[in-house]
Amino acid sequence: MSSVKLAKRFPAVLDKAKFLTKDQIVSIQNVQAGQHIILGRSIKNDDYSNLIYLGKVIEQAQGKSYFANNLWMDVSFPHVAYITGTRGSGKSFDLGVILEGLSELSNDSNVKNSVTPITSILIDTQSQFWTLKYKPNKNIPENLDQINDLKSWGMEPSSIENCSIFIPKGTESITGDEIEFTIKASQITHEEWCGLLGQEVYSPQGHIIGRTLEHFAESEFSIEQMVGYIEDPENWEHVAEQSRNALLYKLDDYRRSNLFSNDGLNIRDILIEGHCNVFMLRDLRNEDKSLITSIISRQLFSIMGEYHRKKKVNTFFEREEDLGNLPSKVWLVIDEAHVVAPKDSYSPARSALVEYVKRGRDAGLSLVLATQQPSAVDDKILSQVDFTINHRLTFQSDVEAAMGRTPTKIIQNLKIGGTEISDFRDMIRLLDSGECFIGDHNTSRVILSKIRPRLSSHGGYSPK
Ligand SMILES: Nc1ncnc2c1ncn2[C@@H]1O[C@H](COP(=O)(O)OP(=O)(O)OP(=O)(O)O)[C@@H](O)[C@H]1O
Ligand SMILES: [Mg+2]
Repeated sequence: MSSVKLAKRFPAVLDKAKFLTKDQIVSIQNVQAGQHIILGRSIKNDDYSNLIYLGKVIEQAQGKSYFANNLWMDVSFPHVAYITGTRGSGKSFDLGVILEGLSELSNDSNVKNSVTPITSILIDTQSQFWTLKYKPNKNIPENLDQINDLKSWGMEPSSIENCSIFIPKGTESITGDEIEFTIKASQITHEEWCGLLGQEVYSPQGHIIGRTLEHFAESEFSIEQMVGYIEDPENWEHVAEQSRNALLYKLDDYRRSNLFSNDGLNIRDILIEGHCNVFMLRDLRNEDKSLITSIISRQLFSIMGEYHRKKKVNTFFEREEDLGNLPSKVWLVIDEAHVVAPKDSYSPARSALVEYVKRGRDAGLSLVLATQQPSAVDDKILSQVDFTINHRLTFQSDVEAAMGRTPTKIIQNLKIGGTEISDFRDMIRLLDSGECFIGDHNTSRVILSKIRPRLSSHGGYSPK
């Protein structure tokens, strides 16, 4: 049991509350000494280990107020976190904050409390997270603001150690030390192929794909071999040539791309304790981003699921069996989730992610999703959300979708600059970048907060 103290970590950054509310906080996991709030778990036996620092409370509430308290997120249990907000509201910034908390940093930092670095995989749809490996550069004006911000929050700039950046083979390199990756044709399921090629599973082309995969069964095979099998008329006596040709054109596109090879990505190779893995996918089409996410989450789920199943049995029978060097926990982090798992169209990642969130808990798997369009993300994937960060939102449908996933009550009343607001939809429109409502199961309502500055350089700033 760790009793690592949290007391007096950060200076008083905020002097006056910008927001006032009449809504009382009935239950909360707080630590009086040093003014801390624990989110994502309840406090037991003074155990304050496995906490990462998120930011500060910026609301003054009636009754007992927690204004300027420090907010910590639990990373000992698996979580499904959902981050929403319009463009430029701070979502990617939050993902960086979470990854800094999970990963090994180049210098000791007060933003984690007794955290053994946790393995993570980030789906970086905008290819902006390579900067996690670098400290802010004081010659860039935006970074200079950040360095000053860090100073006022009592934190030191830092960067993530043990961070590998992956790019699809043949796409543009940014840092020069990225690792190129490809995928194998045999890693893709029937359903995923159909999704990629825009065909129903039971359509003529879906049928051809199904029979082709059946032919190769469990063996490893290439796109060229698939094409060869479909091209051979002897294999397709009663199947229309038209359907085969249509399919061949599409497969040929993939054959000519650099995405496939026989030496495709094996997730087991990157599951190294405490390692941060960033997949920069900006140059891919959306359906291919979704396909990569699907392959990663399925492999992750099956490797980690089996590992934990065996581990439990071995523990029960007190058996000593070498299960290989796998981390006990992995966090999968996805930016722009509406691109990877949209609600209204089929995407390869949908069923893989549904399975991941439903059964990932037993496999030590967490998920963090960020989106600017909460109303456009597949509902089934959101069914297990237990932690939410809601930044500024404007469209009614998005506000409603985000509210619907908040695991606690929302605020009924808010006063800002003398104006009283009683509709949550209006409150959320008023937030500045980095300001948000954070919700979890252990707090009786959402808390209006400000996310801390980033330690490493943030790659998502807009050009001035
Ligand atoms: N917690 C914060 N503290 C200080 N500045 C912040 C914070 N969060 C966001 N910002 C500022 O807002 C800018 C935009 O943030 P970010 O890149 O996270 O937006 P986003 O929500 O991911 O937008 P998009 O949907 O366009 O990707 C950042 O470059 C930074 O300047
Ligand atoms: Mg972003």
